[in-house]
Amino acid sequence: MKSTYNSHVIRILLGLLLFAVVGGVGKYLLTPHSFGKYGHYRADSIEEEANRKIRHWTNASCMACHEHEAQMHLKGLHKTISCEFCHSTYADHVQDGKKTAAMPLKKDQEIRTLCLRCHNRAIQARPKQVIKTVVMPEHLESQKVKVTHLCNQCHNVHAPLKYINRAKEILGMQEKT
Ligand code: HEC
Ligand code: HEC
Ligand code: HEC
Ligand code: HEC
Repeated sequence: MKSTYNSHVIRILLGLLLFAVVGGVGKYLLTPHSFGKYGHYRADSIEEEANRKIRHWTNASCMACHEHEAQMHLKGLHKTISCEFCHSTYADHVQDGKKTAAMPLKKDQEIRTLCLRCHNRAIQARPKQVIKTVVMPEHLESQKVKVTHLCNQCHNVHAPLKYINRAKEILGMQEKT
């Protein structure tokens, strides 16, 4: 009679023991080996993050190979804009200092979409004093051209006022004579 009275306590104790053993072994097996070396994290992750390959680089790194665009870009009003913003990631184009893959080149509607990401007046959070904005298609209508015109037919993408200033100069010269 006495043994049946105790059996539920023994079952609970056995259950707790099993729980402790499984938990202890599980913790031992599942904890990464460098965990806790410096603090409550995996010490190896510091080295892993530090050794990650750099994917984005500076404009100067693009300019080393693209001298023509570099000259243009440095002189124009886009000189503060990152090449990668308008193109693509350095690491997908160049590796260990050599061109390894083609850089996709934007064309047609993609160019308009790109320009309007920064120059669309509809973006209220970007005040006119900070960045000049235009309204489409009014901008094209005011130039008296078809609304199918692309931004880069009048603006040099790397120095956006280059052609326009030159045209103004020529017109100015004509007026004087
Ligand atoms: C190691 C030299 C090198 C570096 C650095 C480099 N490029 Fe290039 N790039 C090339 C070569 C070579 C070509 C293919 C030949 C060409 O079209 O001029 C090319 C092609 C391109 C093209 C396509 C041209 C076309 O007509 O299809 C673009 C756009 C471009 N690169 C942009 C960039 C940008 C932006 C960077 C920096 C993030 C960059 N490149 C860094 C060498 C380089
Ligand atoms: C404001 C956006 C913008 C920036 C910033 C920009 N590009 Fe471009 N780039 C373009 C667009 C759009 C084209 C394709 C259309 C065109 O050439 O009119 C282009 C074309 C090119 C081409 C191909 C030219 C050709 O004739 O085939 C190269 C190379 C290039 N860019 C390199 C660069 C480099 C290097 C930088 C940084 C110094 C840079 N770009 C910065 C938008 C940009
Ligand atoms: C990443 C944002 C960005 C993108 C994308 C961009 N621009 Fe710009 N753009 C600027 C900034 C910043 C300036 C210099 C400030 C200013 O003048 O508004 C500028 C200046 C200009 C100006 C001169 C405005 C003036 O009279 O001072 C023109 C025109 C222009 N961009 C056209 C374009 C065209 C066309 C494209 C597409 C190829 C383009 N931008 C793409 C940011 C951008
Ligand atoms: C038919 C030629 C033409 C086309 C196409 C064109 N623009 Fe312009 N844009 C101009 C001229 C010219 C000016 C200068 C106007 C002036 O100085 O009064 C200008 C000025 C600008 C300015 C400066 C506005 C300001 O307040 O000073 C921006 C920004 C601009 N354009 C962006 C764009 C964008 C983005 C596109 C494409 C969606 C585009 N433009 C297409 C001719 C054009």
